[in-house]
Amino acid sequence: MSTDPAEAGPDPAPSAVPSAAVTTAAEAPGRVAVIVPAAGKGERLGPGAPKALRELGGLPLLVHAVRTLVAARSVDVVVVAAPPNPQGLAEVQRLLADLPGDTRVVAGGRTRQESVALALAALPADCDVVLVHDAARALTPVDVVEAVVAAVRAGAGAVIPVLPVADTIKAVDGDQVSATVDRSTLRAVQTPQGFTRDILAKAHAASNPSLPATDDAGLVEALGLPVHTVPGHAEAFKITTPFDLVLAEAVLRRRR
Ligand code: CTP
Ligand code: MG
Repeated sequence: MSTDPAEAGPDPAPSAVPSAAVTTAAEAPGRVAVIVPAAGKGERLGPGAPKALRELGGLPLLVHAVRTLVAARSVDVVVVAAPPNPQGLAEVQRLLADLPGDTRVVAGGRTRQESVALALAALPADCDVVLVHDAARALTPVDVVEAVVAAVRAGAGAVIPVLPVADTIKAVDGDQVSATVDRSTLRAVQTPQGFTRDILAKAHAASNPSLPATDDAGLVEALGLPVHTVPGHAEAFKITTPFDLVLAEAVLRRRR
């Protein structure tokens, strides 16, 4: 963990020269928290335990994801939104107790957005940079986490890791193609997404819980605020279907 200031990642901006009345994360670095939404059922993965508790290489997806986060030098606190039933909560508490670092658990909600909002409400007061990272992106490399934190520290209010789209994408109307979308301007979006705490809190406060967004940056865009991109990574893919789990097993075998 980043208790050693010599290991705290990129240098903060000089603290003696706050250039504007608004305090940015770049000027007054506080601590970095990562919210991990892990309360989903994993319906597309098929019957079984909640997805975050399904095993990959003998360990739950959540453990893979949180291990990487606590190993990131820039990360100070991890708050997991757990499946809200008593067994789910107890299991997540048990798993996190075995990991190093400052990890905390809250009960998640009915949608991903609600789970993130519940974790946001439980963040320590001194965290001013907040990442949101899907438990389902269990194999995300630590470098992606560090790049997102660095971009927020450098002054971006909202940052997302992205990859170019490889497939040709078409819009359809029923079974009829209505348009071919220009692929060169499209990006596939991953997590962790990083924000100043102010911006993430404002975006969630302004959101409509009955029309939940699939990512947090979408809520920031709805406020009309800029969202910056950094390069994502193929191994940060979201484990959604049984095929993804096979792919993840292969990635893990290659790493070991
Ligand atoms: N998530 C959450 N709370 C919810 C729903 C989803 O915290 N009510 C989390 C999931 O645990 C996952 C992330 O959001 O880590 C991305 O969601 P997704 O991949 O859709 O996972 P699930 O909702 O579990 O899967 P499915 O949609 O197939 O049921
Ligand atoms: Mg889902």
